[in-house]
Amino acid sequence: MRIDIISIFPDMFTGPFSHSIIKRAIDKGLVEIHLHDLRDYTTDKHRSVDDYAFGGGAGMVMSIEPIARCIDKLKAERDYNEIVFLTPDGELLNQGLSNELSIKGNLMMLCGHYKGVDERLRELYISREISIGDYVLSGGELGAAVLVDSIVRLIPGVLGDETSALSDSFQNNLLSPPVYTRPREFKGLKVPDILLSGHQARIDNWKLEKAIERTRSRRPDLLDEN
Ligand code: ADE
Repeated sequence: MRIDIISIFPDMFTGPFSHSIIKRAIDKGLVEIHLHDLRDYTTDKHRSVDDYAFGGGAGMVMSIEPIARCIDKLKAERDYNEIVFLTPDGELLNQGLSNELSIKGNLMMLCGHYKGVDERLRELYISREISIGDYVLSGGELGAAVLVDSIVRLIPGVLGDETSALSDSFQNNLLSPPVYTRPREFKGLKVPDILLSGHQARIDNWKLEKAIERTRSRRPDLLDEN
């Protein structure tokens, strides 16, 4: 998979992409992530990427031209399965959407700032608008980092144990069951006997029951969706 990210703060991605699972996926050649500084696509000496909003109102709007120039250049080099705009008024990210995007070949992501981008850019270039939650971030970068993380860990071969993404919370619309490791007893609290029983079928059954119990008490909305 190849992911191109357009941003006015490309350095914001250095931390999240140089550790843990994303780093491993890049090192293994399973994903290529290319960062593009939007200011490199400006033509004025101030390298400005925003302008006043027509009709007034507080806040600036991201200009259409530098973004269009950058997207046009990338599109001339390859086809993209989706051109995603990270925005709080987009479709809410969930595991199903991450699964869907994880099997694509080329993704482009545009990070917004200020009051948003010129609406015509959304109409002309964006195929998918995604929000990572019902709150407003200072820009799309953290949203894009979250989206990339949730996608990349699902690319086949990225996680060592192929089954571990399948047992993540939300994969089957259930939260994960509780997990335990050593010691067997801590401050009077014991690991449930069933997990030490060695009886795999009963253990699996227990995990499923706990997953359903936890989902029912914490996220009943997930059960309603089926
Ligand atoms: N940009 C600002 N807020 C955002 C959000 N909640 N999700 C994605 N991008 C954003």
